[in-house]
Parts: sequence; C-alpha cells; structure tokens
Amino acid sequence: MSLKTLSLTVLLFLNLWLSGIRSPASASELQEQPKKIAVVGAGIGGTAAAFYLRQEFGAGVKIDVFESGTVGGRLATVKMGDHEYESGGLRIHPLNLHLKHFVEKIGIPPRKNVASKMAIFDGKELVFEESDWFIINFFRMLWRFGFNLLRMQMWVETVLDKFMRIYQYQQYGYAFTTVERLLHAMGGDSFLTLINQTLEETMMSEGFSQTFLNDMVSPITRVSFGQSVRIHGFVGALSLTGADSAMWAVDGGNKRLCLGLLYHSKSELIPATVTSVGIEVRPSKKGPTTSFYKVNYVGESGSAHDLYDIVVIATPLHQGKSDITFSGFSPPLPSHYPGRYHQTVSTLVNGVLNVSYLGSTKLASDFTVSEVLTKESKDSVIHSLASLDPVHIPQGYSRPPASHSKVWRVSSPHPLSREQLQNIFTSWDSVSETRWLAYPAYRPPHRKTPPFILHNRLYYLSAVDWAASTMEMSAISARNVALLAHHRWHQQGTKIDQEDLHTRMRGEL
Ligand SMILES: Cc1cc2nc3c(=O)[nH]c(=O)nc-3n(C[C@H](O)[C@H](O)[C@H](O)COP(=O)(O)OP(=O)(O)OC[C@H]3O[C@@H](n4cnc5c(N)ncnc54)[C@H](O)[C@@H]3O)c2cc1C
Ligand SMILES: *[C@@H]1O[C@H](CO)[C@@H](O)[C@H](O)[C@H]1NC(C)=O
Ligand SMILES: *[C@@H]1O[C@H](CO)[C@@H](O)[C@H](O)[C@H]1NC(C)=O
Repeated sequence: MSLKTLSLTVLLFLNLWLSGIRSPASASELQEQPKKIAVVGAGIGGTAAAFYLRQEFGAGVKIDVFESGTVGGRLATVKMGDHEYESGGLRIHPLNLHLKHFVEKIGIPPRKNVASKMAIFDGKELVFEESDWFIINFFRMLWRFGFNLLRMQMWVETVLDKFMRIYQYQQYGYAFTTVERLLHAMGGDSFLTLINQTLEETMMSEGFSQTFLNDMVSPITRVSFGQSVRIHGFVGALSLTGADSAMWAVDGGNKRLCLGLLYHSKSELIPATVTSVGIEVRPSKKGPTTSFYKVNYVGESGSAHDLYDIVVIATPLHQGKSDITFSGFSPPLPSHYPGRYHQTVSTLVNGVLNVSYLGSTKLASDFTVSEVLTKESKDSVIHSLASLDPVHIPQGYSRPPASHSKVWRVSSPHPLSREQLQNIFTSWDSVSETRWLAYPAYRPPHRKTPPFILHNRLYYLSAVDWAASTMEMSAISARNVALLAHHRWHQQGTKIDQEDLHTRMRGEL
C-alpha cells in the first residue's frame, strides 16, 4: 500500500471511528477534531509543540514530527573520552517555567550543580576574576563596577517580572498572532521599544556608563549570543538574566527533553526532510470541499507525501537553516525570510589549557576559573572559553584545575586554526568542532518579524527567534502556536490577541 492510500485509509478509519464514538453533544463538541497534524523540526520547539498540541487536541489526533537531522536540533551532545558534553544550548534559567515543567512531567532530574568561577579576558589578560569567597567577590565587583551591577540586576528584574506574565496568559489559554503582540502583552510599549533599540541605547538611557557596558555587559552578550551590545534590548536583557548563579541543565543532556517530549506526546517521529508544503482541495461529504496541506518529504526510502489538517513549521525559514518551498499559496509564501543567522563555532577540546594565553601568571594547578568571558577587542579571537562538565555528573566528581587534561569549550565566530589552538592549549588529545548557525543577527531598528500564522492552519513557531533565541522562548512559542491552532480550529476568537490582559487579569483574580 502506498503512503497516500495508507493515509487515506487512516483518514477514513478515523472518520468512522470519530463519528462512531461521538454522542450528540453541545455545538462546540460537534465540531470535528483535526485528524492529522504535522510538525516540521524536532528541536525543543517542535517537540514542545507536539506536546502542547496533544494537550489541546486530545488523544484522537495523529501527530507526525519530521526531522531531517538529529532530534534536538540546536541542543546536541558530543562524546569525548568516556563522557558526553553539550555542544549547543547549554544553560537554563531557574525561572524558565515551561522547561521546568517538562523535566518534571518527563521525569528527568536536573543535572547536579558544580559551582563555577568566572573571569573576564580582554584579549591580553584577565581583567576580572571571581574568587571562591562570596564576600571577596562582592567587594571585587563593587570595586570594579560600583553599584552598576546591583542596578543592572534590578533593571533586569523589572524586565523579567513582565516577562513572567506570559505564563499566566498561557495558563488561561490566551494566544497571539505575532511576536510583536506577544511582546506587547507581556511588557506593553516598553517591550516594543526594547526590541527596537540596541541594548547599548537602552542601558545608556537608564543611566549605565559606557565603561560598564564595555567591561561587564558586552562580555555577557558575547558569551550568550556571540554579538555585541548592539543587539536589541529585549534579547540583551534576557542574556543578562544568564548571569544568575542558579542556571541549570538537564541530566544526561538537554536534548533528552526533546526525546522525552516526543515520547510523552505519543507522536510519531518521521526521519525525513520536508521539501515542500502545498494545498490540496478534496471534495467532502459535509461541506462543498475540504482543504488539506500536502507535505512532501524525502526520507531514507525515497520521497513521499502525506495530507494534514494542520502544519507547524518549527525550523527557522532562513538561508542555511532550511529549504522548504510553499506552493499554491496566495499571497505566495517565501522559503526564506529576510535577516540572517549568525555563525557560532563550538570547539570542544580535551586538553591542557595554556594559562599564559589568558595572561595569567598563576600555576596551572592553581587556575580554577571555569568560565572565561571576553571583552570586545581586536585581540579577541574567541567569544568565550568554558571548562565543561559532562552532561551527567559522576559520583564524587569535582572539576579538575587547568593543569589536568579536561574538556574545554571554545566559542568563536570563525573556526579556530591549528595555530590558534596551539596558542590556547599546550596539548590536547581530541578536538570536535560544530559550526552552528546559532541565532539571528539582532540588529535594531526592528523589522517586522515573520508572523506565527503563515496561512489558515499553517503555523510558524520559529518566528519567535527574532525576539530571542533560547530554549524557553521556543517552548513559549510552541504553546502559543498550539493554542492558536486550537482556538482557530474551533473558531474561538475571544482568546486571540486580547489587549490589556494584564490589567484585566488582575481584576479577575
Ligand atoms: C552554541 C549554542 C549555544 C546556545 N546556548 C543556549 C543556552 O545556554 N540557553 C538557551 O536557552 N539557549 C541556548 N541556545 C539557543 C537554543 O539552543 C535554541 O534557541 C533552541 O534550541 C532552538 O530550538 P528550536 O527547536 O526552536 O530550533 P532548532 O533546534 O534549530 O530545531 C529545528 C529542527 O528542524 C530541523 N529541520 C530543518 N529543516 C528541516 C526540514 N526541511 N525537514 C525536517 N526537519 C528540518 C533541524 O534539523 C532541527 O533539528 C544556544 C544555541 C547554540 C547554537
Ligand atoms: C523603531 O524605531 C524607528 C527609528 O529608529 C522608528 O522609525 C520606528 O517607528 C520604530 N518602530 C517601532 C515599532 O517602534
Ligand atoms: C602560551 O601562550 C603564550 C601567550 O599567548 C604564548 O606566547 C606561548 O607560546 C603559548 N605556549 C604554548 C606552549 O603554546
């Protein structure tokens, strides 16, 4: 049986089955449920979408998740020696509530925490170094950054407070049709200003000094997004939340979340590349016609296609990220939206660090810094350097000093040459390089983001990357898209793009 007839049989069967078990009920229940949903991409966004779609539409719908590469997407691990290490998305904020919910639901513990120690490198030497003692750190920071650091934390908290509103809206089922509307619902006009200005402009107008921006803020935006303080204020503020010491990760690797969500959502993984999505109109028993999305894909056993009621695109529609043609849509849909993704190269090195590369006069055996951020300078070839712990922390593990051979992760805009590696490390026994098109190049002023709705029942999850590309943002977008798909299927407009939710919900509570 070909895939096409198989899918038709399944459709017919489901149709009979659904009409068989449904007893006459209220008008909204008479509305048929969708039968098949496709999700393109099995990163955290796509797999979270499968999870939330199952939650919205119930057990009856078949959910297929297409993945051309490896489940996890920008969450990936690399094996070095006896252990696995993260080569993509690394750290999760304690207030990322969706991700927290996922680990609880799936039953994977967070990874055991190993205390870290940060330093800042200006291309020649370490200009700041944390000590093991909180009180010393406090005075060192105060000495170097004055009260700027405290004020920064307070400013970031006001942004975070507004950010957290999204969880309540989503809990009550509210959804948004564009990234701008979603941001506006969280933080009002102030969030639209944030996304339309550079972080530098925003913080200067809040009274922070240029020196503080160069010495403290820029190293953080470089380690988080491989870009300068000229990224927009929203993604910039989120990157500053990463300075929280309670950042966590998933035991066994962050990509386990994606596998867990796939399993939990009872969706089917189809290892294939989606090449195009079109519209197919079929006569229908009830109405005049029904339209389906025809998803064409190429897998190991050649090319095939299938029909779906709803499709969610969970991969960036950008050059180098995906190549999906949309045919038969009016107005036409592009394969690639304007704007580009930024290259970040993760080089994992199992070796011995050359501490003099960092201008340190310490003995390597006394060098216990685990995270080196960098200031922007012509001498900096790297964005950051971190001593990585394995994705699963073995019993009795403690992070060795720099004199031991261990795994370091170097992030840089370009691949490292052999000479550069020889400069940074005195010796190594293995190197693994991953070239990521990691995140959008964030350059304000803000250009309109692509919409969450590409066509009636065709959704675009990755539009959210233009607000900020983080695991949690993909999860928020996944829930938003699942809610949109549900409300629009059942024609419930009252939960979409509502204004003033914050004031209204305060009144309701
Ligand atoms: C080096 C690096 C460090 C990062 N650090 C952090 C961090 O510390 N904290 C944090 O929160 N975030 C971090 N991020 C960002 C985070 O990893 C991403 O925001 C998140 O993983 C994006 O998930 P996604 O599912 O939306 O997209 P992706 O993970 O990109 O998933 C898209 C998937 O679609 C698949 N695909 C593409 N085209 C097709 C097609 N035609 N057919 C079928 N499948 C297709 C791809 O193979 C991919 O698996 C980091 C990212 C990188 C690269
Ligand atoms: C963004 O800023 C530009 C000027 O820098 C302005 O023209 C534009 O209207 C702003 N857009 C929004 C959405 O605020
Ligand atoms: C270590 O780094 C210093 C400073 O960059 C450099 O002069 C030296 O050659 C490096 N040592 C090794 C063994 O590569």
